[in-house]
Amino acid sequence: MNDISPLALITGANRGIGRATAIELARQGHDVIVTYRSHPDEAAETVSAIESLGRAAAALPLDSAQVADIARFADDLRTMLEQSFGGAHLDVLVNNAGFGADTTLATTTAEVLDDLYATHVRGVYLLTQAIATPSEGVPLIADGGSIVNLGTGLTRFVHVGRDAYAAMKGAVGVLTAYWAQELGPRGIRVNTIAPGPVETHFSGWVGNEQVRQVFADGTALGRSAAAEDIAGVIASLVQPGAAWVTAQRIEASGGYRL
Ligand SMILES: NC(=O)c1ccc[n+]([C@@H]2O[C@H](COP(=O)([O-])OP(=O)(O)OC[C@H]3O[C@@H](n4cnc5c(N)ncnc54)[C@H](OP(=O)(O)O)[C@@H]3O)[C@@H](O)[C@H]2O)c1
Repeated sequence: MNDISPLALITGANRGIGRATAIELARQGHDVIVTYRSHPDEAAETVSAIESLGRAAAALPLDSAQVADIARFADDLRTMLEQSFGGAHLDVLVNNAGFGADTTLATTTAEVLDDLYATHVRGVYLLTQAIATPSEGVPLIADGGSIVNLGTGLTRFVHVGRDAYAAMKGAVGVLTAYWAQELGPRGIRVNTIAPGPVETHFSGWVGNEQVRQVFADGTALGRSAAAEDIAGVIASLVQPGAAWVTAQRIEASGGYRL
């Protein structure tokens, strides 16, 4: 492995925005560790795509909704960094893993709220803690590193049916500011990228031309978004040119619902 390449960890990178980000960061010179929850075959494809760009890559399983799995993952990550990446530290953490829930105030159950919280808030919190401020051992992210949390445009505009999901992402925005303050003395930047609607499995409209057109009509730039549109913004945010940007929520929506 090349020990001078920057190293990124991206959760939920077997598909969607996570995969596109992994490939974009590899294109820009990063080695990349990706996580997957239930699609090891897709994760292997992401790894191959990164390796074909001449960068080192590896995949680890992670279900960030399970507290015990985050601890297991952090141990496995530490071992992987020592054994396969020459003792390197992460330079980039992208907290990307997530899912949506289409329920309203009238229909959301306690179980839906718990599931959303477990992945989008507790999972993001405990994983970042395990990597940036572990109770034992040195931090797994280097001083001067960059953390990007995935938020959503839904914290600015309203789509009926997304209130519970959007509220969890609102919490991520709050955590971003607090972590930027706490980790700032170590030179670690923390930001939120808030995508508008993006054509991935998450949103359930892959290949649906009618939905694509609806979103295009509501977007200043006049088209709907693909995962690569978000990947480019995330990648630009972790570059040295963005070194003075921290604690920000940056919307990447092409100007949706202005
Ligand atoms: N697509 C949009 O319109 C949109 C808009 C705004 C924000 N976002 C946010 O962007 C992020 C990526 O979404 P996407 O659109 O790329 O969705 P996607 O294509 O469905 O990918 C989601 C990824 O997250 C993983 N994942 C889900 N729950 C997990 C958990 N509990 N633990 C670990 N991994 C988990 C999935 O793993 P498996 O496939 O292996 O299960 C998958 O790799 C999410 O945080 C989402 O909330 C998406």
